[in-house]
Amino acid sequence: MTEYVTVDESDVLPRDGTIKLHGPAGFEGMRKAGRLAAEILDALVPLVKPGVTTGELDDVVRQMTLDAGAVPATLGYRGYTHSCCISINHVVCHGIPSEKTLKDGDIVNIDVTPLLDGWHGDTSRMYLVGDVPLKARRLVDTTYECLMIGIEHAKPGARLGDIGAAIQAHAERQRYGVVREFCGHGVGRLFHDAPEVVHAARAGTGPELKPGMFFTIEPMINLGKPGVKLLDDGWTAVTRDRSLSAQFEHSIGITEDGCEIFTLSPKGLHKPPYDTATA
Ligand code: MF3
Ligand code: CO
Ligand code: CO
Repeated sequence: MTEYVTVDESDVLPRDGTIKLHGPAGFEGMRKAGRLAAEILDALVPLVKPGVTTGELDDVVRQMTLDAGAVPATLGYRGYTHSCCISINHVVCHGIPSEKTLKDGDIVNIDVTPLLDGWHGDTSRMYLVGDVPLKARRLVDTTYECLMIGIEHAKPGARLGDIGAAIQAHAERQRYGVVREFCGHGVGRLFHDAPEVVHAARAGTGPELKPGMFFTIEPMINLGKPGVKLLDDGWTAVTRDRSLSAQFEHSIGITEDGCEIFTLSPKGLHKPPYDTATA
């Protein structure tokens, strides 16, 4: 049985498995945190090029976050010591920023979560480094479509499983693999909360979506098989078959008639190739 609780926005309720239902103050908090998260991803567009290290990009994320009066939620999270995750090519998620440089042809996910005034804005986008082969660009396009198709199903009365079902159908139509080990999550005062938002599911299953629910949708789609493995660092997840993987993530809130995307790009830099004139 799913339990829903209407929250007083001044409280930080623990992770107790209940689904929190937020009011206008929560939407306002998420709007601000989400906007900052999206502005950070916008600012990275001109910086993601061959030769830059992922550590340098992490420094920019940390500085921008702190300058805005926020804190990177990943910093110190379960022992993680960086301000974002940067996942290159066959890295599925949770790539750790380092001295590694980006090279021509890489596809890269950058995932940021500023914690602003007590609210978490969690979002990620793909970036193309230099000239990227068509096969990889197609994967990136389809993964973006998967996220947006999932979001179209996020409305009151629908079930959580409708989102995963739509994403899975779209990805598998191209014979891509949908990662099962990581999922979207409730978000808000807490970084990771109930419910789990799986990206492969049966339509009509799972909790009913209600106005005031906040969660992320963040499909990870592999060019090959869905399997992943964890590297020895305990964080980096890679595809088992070493095929390329892509991911996009938004934080959303269910409204009376659909949903609000908290992490939309203010500059319209939704998916690559990004118009560097606007960036
Ligand atoms: N931002 C990731 C998510 O979408 C979580 C990263 S946790 C970290 O849920 F510790 F790996 F940074
Ligand atoms: Co997330
Ligand atoms: Co994220």
